[in-house]
Amino acid sequence: MRKTQAWNNNWQFIKTDGDFYNIEIDESQFEAVTLPHTWNNIDGQSTVDYYKGKCWYRKNFEKPVVESEGRILIQFEAVAQVAEVYVNGKFVVEHRGGYSTFFADITEYLVEGTNNISVSADNSSKDVYPQNSDFTFYGGIYRPVTLITVSNNHFSFDQDGSDGVFLTPNVNGYVDVAGFVAGQNNGKVICKISDSLGTLAGTGEIDVHHGQFQLNVSVPNPHLWQGVEDPYLYTAIVELSVAGVIVDSLSYRIGFRSYQIDPNKGFILNGIETPLRGVAKHQCREDKGIAVSYADQIEDMELIAEMGANTIRLAHYQHAAMTYDLSDEMGMALWAEIPFTTVFEPSKECRDNATSQMIELVRQNYNHPSIIVWGIGNELSLGGESEALYDELRALNDLTHTLDPTRLTALANASITKLGAPLRSITDVIGYNQYLGWYNGTIEDNAAWMDQIHEEDPNIPVGISEYGADSVMKWHSSEPRKKDYTEEYQALYHEGNVKYITDRPFLWATHVWNMFDFAAAFRDEGGSVGRNNKGMVTFDRKTKKEAFYLYKAYWSKDKFVHI
Ligand code: GCU
Repeated sequence: MRKTQAWNNNWQFIKTDGDFYNIEIDESQFEAVTLPHTWNNIDGQSTVDYYKGKCWYRKNFEKPVVESEGRILIQFEAVAQVAEVYVNGKFVVEHRGGYSTFFADITEYLVEGTNNISVSADNSSKDVYPQNSDFTFYGGIYRPVTLITVSNNHFSFDQDGSDGVFLTPNVNGYVDVAGFVAGQNNGKVICKISDSLGTLAGTGEIDVHHGQFQLNVSVPNPHLWQGVEDPYLYTAIVELSVAGVIVDSLSYRIGFRSYQIDPNKGFILNGIETPLRGVAKHQCREDKGIAVSYADQIEDMELIAEMGANTIRLAHYQHAAMTYDLSDEMGMALWAEIPFTTVFEPSKECRDNATSQMIELVRQNYNHPSIIVWGIGNELSLGGESEALYDELRALNDLTHTLDPTRLTALANASITKLGAPLRSITDVIGYNQYLGWYNGTIEDNAAWMDQIHEEDPNIPVGISEYGADSVMKWHSSEPRKKDYTEEYQALYHEGNVKYITDRPFLWATHVWNMFDFAAAFRDEGGSVGRNNKGMVTFDRKTKKEAFYLYKAYWSKDKFVHI
């Protein structure tokens, strides 16, 4: 049977490159660290020349006990940006992509007794996205690591970082369960689905053929997942048995829901018009950088819920498994995206990387009911529009639909693009990143602009994937003006926009940029270095800005401030 063990303690770290995968290394220069860890937690929030390079982590461990012919794997929930894994001096696997999960099967590399694992992390790579963007590219093993032991027959751990089981609930009362099995091919898969009280709601089983299986489990009259109103989840337990003995088992929370996005009525969830109004977020906070804890993630999600949001754009990369889990439980509709942002270099390396990142995003997160759209890119026209870019996006869009025919695709465009521009029609739905009243124009310009984007493309669902204004808490004014970085101007900016948005239900989703102030090392504005200050809440999470309470008044059922 599968056993998992958190593997975050007793790591050694050195902030420089070298042959640190060799078995015999003088570790006196290393420092003891606990994961999650980043080496940019301080410099990444303050200076443009934060450390980018290859650094090393090492850990010595006893060979885990595993039944005969079993496998021993290490699951890395993310290593930024490029990782190489070595065991006992031998190369095991490389992973290119800083925000997604990958497995290292280390079984063949182990010896009896004490073993060594060495992992390099490199945040300076030029052919792994993101290459350039308005946030700090932290380095490190900044999400949890897990040791997994399984018997030889198990649900497969794919190269795409998924665990090989894909569940598609259908509101008509059944769940498609498909997947892959490694080890041998004559086992049986059993799926048991229970409701939130633990009562069995449906069960099914099927024989595995050639390492694959597909079955249909009937769940009559399912209780629907209705976003923040009623985020009802079922639990699916998927077991693999061989000769009547259960050898592997996985558990998922799933939700039954159907949706459409209509160019005039916006987002419709289970037949109910549900305007998506919410925020975008990064994964970082003061002094910890991107290496946040589970408690931090919960605090972030609770703040978002308190503000009354019902959607989150998880910018600009794959987020932690925990974030998707919490969104399922809290009913947040998600825009989940790959780190393909701002700059596009037409090269084979870049194309391969954007492709592999999309495969990983979709396959690793397929089972989450909260995910509504897959975002294929952000503001790529800023790097210049070209046929190569359009081709890249068309290919990514097609790939995404092949990987997941059940969901829609989305693209975040920089401000307004030209009428008829391909960037308006490649994906199923689009969003614009629009900063009228901040970088240019006036707050009032937004009303006419929102009507314009709808009138110009009446058959394309349009949303606002970003809008926002900076405020640095030390500035205040009784006569707030554009770009004065005061909390008061930021509140005025959002007051205008929230009214215009409320009056325009055709906007399928709107996302405030950003829920939290975040690290953007190259920035130096408003007297704040290394920070994008467009958050509703400060980088340290200690202060809710005025605009936070404004949205709470508009969106939340609980409009009162609790003191
Ligand atoms: C963008 C971009 C964000 C950025 C934001 C801003 O358009 O997509 O990553 O942080 O604008 O300027 O604040």
